[in-house]
Amino acid sequence: MRNKVMVVFGTRPEAIKMAPVIKALQEMEQLEVRVAVTAQHREMLDQVLDLFGIVPDYDLNLMRENQDLFGITSRVLEGMRDVYERERPRLVLVHGDTTTTFAAALAAFYLRIAVGHVEAGLRTRRKYSPFPEEMNRTLTGRLADLHFAPTETARANLLAEGVAPFRIWVTGNTVIDALYQTVKPDYRFTGELAELDFTRRIILVTTHRRENWGTKMRQIYEALCDILEEFDDVDVVFPVHKNPVVRDVVEEVLEGRERVYLIEPLDYEPFAHLMAASHLVMTDSGGLQEEAPSLGKPVLVLRDTTERPEAVEAGTVKLVGTDRRRIYEEAKRLLTDEEAYQKMARAVNPYGDGQAAPRIAKVVRDFLHNY
Ligand code: UD1
Ligand code: UDP
Repeated sequence: MRNKVMVVFGTRPEAIKMAPVIKALQEMEQLEVRVAVTAQHREMLDQVLDLFGIVPDYDLNLMRENQDLFGITSRVLEGMRDVYERERPRLVLVHGDTTTTFAAALAAFYLRIAVGHVEAGLRTRRKYSPFPEEMNRTLTGRLADLHFAPTETARANLLAEGVAPFRIWVTGNTVIDALYQTVKPDYRFTGELAELDFTRRIILVTTHRRENWGTKMRQIYEALCDILEEFDDVDVVFPVHKNPVVRDVVEEVLEGRERVYLIEPLDYEPFAHLMAASHLVMTDSGGLQEEAPSLGKPVLVLRDTTERPEAVEAGTVKLVGTDRRRIYEEAKRLLTDEEAYQKMARAVNPYGDGQAAPRIAKVVRDFLHNY
């Protein structure tokens, strides 16, 4: 009899990073794989499911306009209870630090189902930064039986919290698997991206962090205006997150500005190639901090903390916060100082070799065989 494992996720980044894991699990003949999506995100999740050809067995379809943490948490908890009770998987795999991650792990715990945590051990050790992700991933770590740490730093964080060494595997980050499976040398942009002038310097921008909502986001966008005013060979391309709280401020500050391209969230394939074709990335995203170093793109991180110190140490990522003046100064330095730019643009890859997913699948197979 094959062992049943269920992969659960709900948002865009989880889907991108779990897609290679699902594929690797499906290649193991000893495993029966089920996929459940909470659809904490809807359109942004479906974009990824389509690209990677994932057809979920369960879809809780729980996203609501302007949802809050209470609503997501309770809908995931109750929704996953029903799914787990029906399927009775032997292991549930969750990813990272969203509210889907935590609530799906908690629901599994309530039914005494083992939990595997992919992208385990990232920490800032600041309760509210990022919010609520630091607590989501810490609590998920407490619930997990198997911890798939992307790096040695993440493993050390888990050990410091008392996780037993034999429960931790350093696998690399599956986002590198996804990136390698997606980026192709002969890729051609289509639609609105084909119209961009890549002889100009493109700054690729994304923002969505809850702790940046409001004034901090406004400061970030105002800094972008300052940069555009100073450098007339620079364009800003900004695929705007679907969250209305983000969209309101983006529209207020950036709508109608010359050389600012506000576009819908891109499918992962064009987005990854756009990252590769950009001059500079400015973001508060977690995933971009892992992908951009692999593509040799400097990243200015629009946050006060990062749980990804490897990229900072490698020198391709710099934490610049959300102060308007500071962001402007840091971007200006990279746009004027070629040496500083080249120093950051070294392609290094602290997050793995693109083989994280097969490693995880092998551990899962062996764990369930012996369990
Ligand atoms: C969520 C995660 C965050 C992760 C981010 C990745 C939590 C609490 N937050 O934040 O950790 O880094 O996803 O992007 O788990 N919306 C749509 N369509 C979509 C997606 C979102 O319309 O496809 C809108 C909805 O109005 C929704 C809102 O965005 O209510 C917020 O979505 P939510 O998942 O609560 O928060 P994010 O900021 O996306
Ligand atoms: N991404 C995408 N389309 C976009 C913007 C981002 O496919 O328009 C991808 C990006 O390459 C990365 C992931 O989405 O893999 C990051 O998602 P997000 O910033 O929403 O979440 P975080 O990583 O901060 O949790």
